[in-house]
Amino acid sequence: MELGDIPAVLSIEEESFSNPWRKEDFLFAMVSPDYEAVVAELEGPVGYAIYRFSGKEVHIGNLAVESSHRRKGVGSALLRHIFEQARRNGAVRATLEVRVSNEAARRFYLAHGFFCVAVRKGYYRKPREDALVMVKLLK
Ligand SMILES: CC(C)(COP(=O)(O)OP(=O)(O)OC[C@H]1O[C@@H](n2cnc3c(N)ncnc32)[C@H](O)[C@@H]1OP(=O)(O)O)[C@@H](O)C(=O)NCCC(=O)NCCS
Repeated sequence: MELGDIPAVLSIEEESFSNPWRKEDFLFAMVSPDYEAVVAELEGPVGYAIYRFSGKEVHIGNLAVESSHRRKGVGSALLRHIFEQARRNGAVRATLEVRVSNEAARRFYLAHGFFCVAVRKGYYRKPREDALVMVKLLK
C-alpha cells in the first residue's frame, strides 16, 4: 500500500464497513514496523489487507474487496499472499475477528480453512455486536 492508494482504499473501506477505519488508521499501518499493508491491483486498487505478526501468529486486522470486484478471487489472492508471507516468517496460525452478522466474510474465511474458536461479546461498535474469533492453522 502506497500513499497514492489511500483514496481508493478509503472508498472501499467506507462502502464495506459500518464503522470504517479512518485515513490515519491506514497511514499508521503503512508506517508502523509491526504492520503489513498490501493492495490487490487491477487498473487501480480493488482490495487490501492489513495484518501484523506477533510471535508465531499472523493477525488479520482488515481485509476488503471493492464491491463490484467481489466473488472473483481477489480476497482469496490477498489471503494467499498473507499465508505465504506468514509461513516464510514462521507463523503457525492466522487469526482474525469478524462480525457475527457478516455472513459473506464468515463463509469466505470458512472456505479458506478458518474455524471459530471464541466469541468476543460486544467487541464491535456502530452497531454494537459480538465478534467471532476465527483461527486457521498454517502448515
Ligand atoms: C469477504 C470478502 C473480503 C470476500 O472477498 P472476495 O474477493 O469476494 O472473495 P473470493 O472471490 O476470493 O471468494 C472466495 C470464496 O469465499 C466464499 N465467499 C466469498 N464471498 C461470499 C459470499 N458473499 N457468500 C458466500 N460465500 C462467499 C466462497 O466460497 C468463494 O468461492 P466461490 O466464489 O467460488 O463460491 C468481501 O466480500 C468483502 O470485501 N466484504 C466486505 C468487507 C469484509 O467483510 N471484510 C472482512 C471483514 S473480517
